[in-house]
Amino acid sequence: MMYCWSHAGGELRDRRGGESRRGRRNEGREINHIEMRMRRKKGLIVAFDMEDVDSALSLAREMRNADGEFVIKIGRPLEMQAGVKIMAKIKEISGLPVIYDGKIADIPYISRRIAENAFDAGADAVIVHAFVGSDVLRAVKETGKGDVIAVVDMTHEGSNEFLRRVSSEMISAVLDVGVDGVVIPATDPQRLRHFASMIDNAYIISPGIKTQGASVGDAILNGADYEIVGRAIYTAENPKEAAETIYEEMIRRWRSGRNGRIGYRWITGGD
Ligand code: C5P
Repeated sequence: MMYCWSHAGGELRDRRGGESRRGRRNEGREINHIEMRMRRKKGLIVAFDMEDVDSALSLAREMRNADGEFVIKIGRPLEMQAGVKIMAKIKEISGLPVIYDGKIADIPYISRRIAENAFDAGADAVIVHAFVGSDVLRAVKETGKGDVIAVVDMTHEGSNEFLRRVSSEMISAVLDVGVDGVVIPATDPQRLRHFASMIDNAYIISPGIKTQGASVGDAILNGADYEIVGRAIYTAENPKEAAETIYEEMIRRWRSGRNGRIGYRWITGGD
């Protein structure tokens, strides 16, 4: 059964119009799991990489009423400070889907256990490195507990040494496994556009915006579905306002760009 997140209504609905989905239990609480695959909206993923737990909770609270389509990505720095239970908490107070960015890269058994822990703690999606191979991705996918997003390319200089040489092959492999999403950075727009043309059946999430050099909207205009922004939001004086402004700018550029020379390939879920 497929579900989608109704942002306006703030509840999970069966895609075919049925009742709200009941999630798994976490310390007596129900956790609703949200299938990001179904969103297909242009959205902004706010990277919660801050290490101050109070700031994270306070931004999560504010994001509940933020204007736009948002997803929260929780990285290791915050998880290490607050523990895995931070995911359910942030999800509950923000009302937004949560991605666990553990950049999982271990043997299949351990990778599956990490993913299961994250899903059981409230994550709707987990991020796994593709370079570890199809058996790892398959093991995580087989949990059936949420979306699996594969890293096939990275933004930092060192990724040129090894990772970026095999991105194309990794894309073919992760699509064969049937991952739900793929991470491709916005910092090399031509490369992103080329890779996006190879991907039909998974959403693309794209980091590298602002602090790492790409402009807001660059990724969406080159085939991504979600842009990821961390520092430019959580270090801003007013992080919620920063998130809203970036989201607005992204949508504005997307709307003007798709009427221009840039052919947009998804647009299945409207705007
Ligand atoms: O602060 P900034 O906007 O640069 O954060 C980028 C986020 O995207 C971080 O959470 C980082 O872990 C993540 N990311 C990335 N490059 C990748 C995959 C994820 O920068 N290839």
